Amino acid sequence: MLWKTGLLVVFLGTLSVKSEPILPSFRIPNLPLLLQNHNIPNPDVKYINAFQEFLVKYLKEYKTNEEIIQRFTIFSRNFDLVERYNLEDAGKVTYELNEFSDLSDEEWKKFLMTPRPGKPRKTSKALSKSLETLPDTVDWRNVNETNHVTGIKYQGPCGSCWAFATAAAIESAVSINGGGLENLSSQQLLDCTPISDKCSGGEPIEALSFAQTHGITSARNYPYYFWTTKCQETVPTVARISGWIEADGEEEMARIVGSKGPMIVCANFATNKNRFYRGGIADDPDCGTEPTHALVVVGYGPDYWILKNTYSKVWGERGYMRVRRGVNWCGINTEKPLLPVL
Ligand SMILES: *[C@@H]1O[C@H](CO)[C@@H](O)[C@H](O)[C@H]1NC(C)=O
Ligand SMILES: *[C@@H]1O[C@H](CO)[C@@H](O)[C@H](O)[C@H]1NC(C)=O
Repeated sequence: MLWKTGLLVVFLGTLSVKSEPILPSFRIPNLPLLLQNHNIPNPDVKYINAFQEFLVKYLKEYKTNEEIIQRFTIFSRNFDLVERYNLEDAGKVTYELNEFSDLSDEEWKKFLMTPRPGKPRKTSKALSKSLETLPDTVDWRNVNETNHVTGIKYQGPCGSCWAFATAAAIESAVSINGGGLENLSSQQLLDCTPISDKCSGGEPIEALSFAQTHGITSARNYPYYFWTTKCQETVPTVARISGWIEADGEEEMARIVGSKGPMIVCANFATNKNRFYRGGIADDPDCGTEPTHALVVVGYGPDYWILKNTYSKVWGERGYMRVRRGVNWCGINTEKPLLPVL
């Protein structure tokens, strides 16, 4: 670590002189030898190459040789999983090794929200039943040539999906109402929503309740910190909601998403098929239905939902995911989807 930092300083120092600097490498020198010395005598070169690429791509550094061995072992197992899933779902869904490839299943579950027992819900606005026919496809990233969805975010190691999903749904509501497209502060929701476990998970409905009572400021006023900070109380309010609408089942969800705007949903993400999703219409019948992750539905096609995720643009379909519609995919309707109303 120190050595690498030193190298970085030297490298930055020479930056102005040399036009093609050598970047510090995250590759582990003599990895096969290290593995041999730790009872992994003939590691397959495919694992070694993929692991080294992974370290460089995601700037990973481990503190001890023991941790290198442990991470390599987990990574190799995940390598096999991804290979198997790609064969199993060939032609339908693709998977890839990503940022989360060195985490064990337990660590992945810890990163997500713990499923909570169903709580009685607060009252919400009633939806006026209209008989208008809905379009077959809706994508709020392009409605009448206008984008109503902000750029993809990166939540990092904090389980703040619920705050991001809530902010994103309000951002779209503001834009659809003619208020312009602006990033709102998920950090404010993370820090200030009273009933939440902060980075260990929270309820979108509580974050909506906060945005109703206190309003929400912009991400520029109150930027994301990747961890919880002390709630700043003197920030200007940029948007405020008057309440929210809940959808009862996927048909009503389509009606609301199609006619009003993006909705917050919770689904189970504690599966490796979701963790390593790369593209296609995800459809995993073995996925549980306990909600462990919050996302935003920004549209749909005839047989799929389009979900906005917060794992950066490198994940999935440039940060998005399509999932099977009409099958309660991973419990997408276990908790009622929520539409913020200004
Ligand atoms: C898109 O344009 C159509 C036709 O002009 C209009 O009826 C509809 O309300 C517009 N939708 C939005 C979300 O602005
Ligand atoms: C919002 O934040 C994203 C990600 O940081 C950024 O790419 C985008 O330019 C910002 N603004 C809008 C309007 O999306």
